[in-house]
Amino acid sequence: MTENQKELVKKTIPVLREHGVLLTSHFYNRMFEHNPELKHVFNMGNQKNKKQQTALAMTVLAYAEHIEDPGVLLPVIDSIGHKHTSLDIRRDHYPIVGKHLIASIKEVLGDDASDELLEAWTVAYQQLAELMAGHEQDIYDQKTIRKGGWAGWRSFVVQRKIKESEEITSFYLYPSDGGAVSDFIPGQYLSVRLFLPELNLLQPRQYSISSSPNGMYYRISVKREAGSQHPDGMISNRLHQFIQEGDIVEVSAPAGNFVLDVNSDHPKVFISGGVGQTPLMSMLEKLISNDNAAGVPITWIHGCRSEAVHAFKDRLEELANLDCLKKHIFYDIPGKDGADFHSGWVDLSMIKEDVLMPESDFYICGPAPFISKHYQFLLQNGVSKKHIHFEEFGPASLQLN
Ligand SMILES: Cc1cc2nc3c(=O)[nH]c(=O)nc-3n(C[C@H](O)[C@H](O)[C@H](O)COP(=O)(O)OP(=O)(O)OC[C@H]3O[C@@H](n4cnc5c(N)ncnc54)[C@H](O)[C@@H]3O)c2cc1C
Ligand code: HEM
Repeated sequence: MTENQKELVKKTIPVLREHGVLLTSHFYNRMFEHNPELKHVFNMGNQKNKKQQTALAMTVLAYAEHIEDPGVLLPVIDSIGHKHTSLDIRRDHYPIVGKHLIASIKEVLGDDASDELLEAWTVAYQQLAELMAGHEQDIYDQKTIRKGGWAGWRSFVVQRKIKESEEITSFYLYPSDGGAVSDFIPGQYLSVRLFLPELNLLQPRQYSISSSPNGMYYRISVKREAGSQHPDGMISNRLHQFIQEGDIVEVSAPAGNFVLDVNSDHPKVFISGGVGQTPLMSMLEKLISNDNAAGVPITWIHGCRSEAVHAFKDRLEELANLDCLKKHIFYDIPGKDGADFHSGWVDLSMIKEDVLMPESDFYICGPAPFISKHYQFLLQNGVSKKHIHFEEFGPASLQLN
């Protein structure tokens, strides 16, 4: 890019800051109108609730802000790359997105979009697309060289469907070709794709793997999303109601960079809200399956509405005899603490001794406000950012690191 082109891109920062979501909403509407086949690729739930428009707007803005040194965005590009590769996004898709993004800049900015500005954004987009597609190719290569690995979609049989709580059910997924499945790093997710008759579309969703690596199957644990003000969640309800043992679903290979540092012997603190415990279950199972040879202290902190919706309660109770494991369960039940739970929302200040162990690694997963609250608590209590890892169950909305 020329210096002049970089300056032109930087000049769009104020408008991106103020109207970024307007631009990306226009972009998605335009793209789905001209390329309706891409509706099978995108999560239409995240379009309705605007989370994807917001995530893309934040990234385009961050790119414009760092146009002098896009290398600082590598961690973000890595996270997006994991999501893209779990959805089988390929290099050939980039020109389609580029065409609609540049056309949207022109249509949204109107007279303010000079030819020079559009040319600057075209070059900027191509530079970013090259960076992303190259990184994604590396991720695909890593997926395929692993034993039992693959890229794209593969058929899996639901061999077992087990109810874990009133609203969370586990699905044990075995490849229908009878082959092995690649190992993964605990914390990673996969995408599951189903056909939705009500939309006449294929629809993918990500689910964290809740089992530890075992070479044969992946277990996912899905919360049935009941809409209150909004419609019921489409895929989670379909999985709960229509997908039975013996049915086939399409699955992409494990992806994601929210992962357990398996080589570290630092204490581990797992903090989850609701179904956010799934990737942490996989991490916990992995630590336990090694017999926790290093004797790493583990604190398991989990909050949910009540015992009725508390998944994996029995599994945690089975592990209660392990000296290395301490657990703190919070139920949103007002009143007195029970024998084995605290009453109210997760409050780390109540259990500081088991949370603030020196040199600990923290893994947080739950709704965005849950993550923010506990992240801030840890920072205020002297924990360094590099020891705090978190995952959102949707397009990234937090900018904490
Ligand atoms: C990395 C990752 C890991 C995940 N791991 C898990 C996991 O282990 N277990 C799990 O259960 N989930 C997990 N999820 C979430 C999962 O991918 C799905 O988002 C979830 O199952 C809901 O999908 P759905 O199709 O049922 O809901 P959707 O139909 O996609 O709807 C999503 C939400 O939007 C609401 N909505 C619908 N219409 C509107 C509207 N007009 N305005 C506003 N809101 C609206 C719905 O009520 C619903 O709450 C994970 C997500 C990610 C990104
Ligand atoms: C420079 C170009 C691109 C940028 C900056 C970009 C950015 C993003 C971002 C920020 C996310 C959200 C990631 C997360 O937080 O989980 C995302 C997800 C996604 N992207 Fe891209 N992307 C680009 C190109 C593409 C292309 C070419 C395709 C293919 C058509 C694509 C398809 C998707 C899909 C399907 C998702 C998941 C959407 C969802 O879950 O709702 N992207 N992208």
